[in-house]
Amino acid sequence: MHEIDITLTVNGERVSERVEPRKTLVDFLRDDLFMTGSHVGCEHGVCGACTVRVNGEIVRGCLMLAVQCDGATVETIEGLSDSGEIADLQAAFEQRNALQCGYCTPGMLAAAQDLLRRGGVPSRDDIREHLSGNYCRCTGYQAIVDAVEAVAQQRAAKR
Ligand code: FES
Ligand code: FES
Repeated sequence: MHEIDITLTVNGERVSERVEPRKTLVDFLRDDLFMTGSHVGCEHGVCGACTVRVNGEIVRGCLMLAVQCDGATVETIEGLSDSGEIADLQAAFEQRNALQCGYCTPGMLAAAQDLLRRGGVPSRDDIREHLSGNYCRCTGYQAIVDAVEAVAQQRAAKR
C-alpha cells in the first residue's frame, strides 16, 4: 500500500514517520512510537480507552487516522504523566482505588484532566457527564468521580 510521510509533535518531540493511510492514531502511537499507554478497547469510538489529546482537545485515537495528525501536536498519557500535569490526579486515583485492572485508566485520566483544566469545581453530575464516554469495567465509577472531585477541590483551593 502507498505510504504517506507525516511529521507531528508527540509529547514535545518532533516525529517524522511513514505510515499506511489506514493506520489509526492509536495504532501509530503504540506500534510505531512504542507508546503503549494509550489502550485499544472497542476500536470504534465507544469505550474511551484510546483517548489522547490532539491540538489541545481530547480525541478517540481509534477514530482518527495517523495521517490526519500531520502537523498536529499530540499528547499521550506518557506525556501528561512525565510533565507532572496530572500527578495530583494519578495520586488521587491511587489513594481512592479508582482503578483496578487499569485498562481504562489512561483514557480516564486524559478525559478527567480535560474537564479539570477548564477550571472551577465541576459538580459530580458534570464529572459523570464528562467521563460518560470512558468505560470502566472494574470500579463502578464511584471512586473515579470521588478522585476527580477531590482534585478539582484541591486545585481550586490553591488558586
Ligand atoms: S478503542 Fe477507541 S473508543 Fe474504544
Ligand atoms: S480499572 Fe479496569 S476497566 Fe477501569
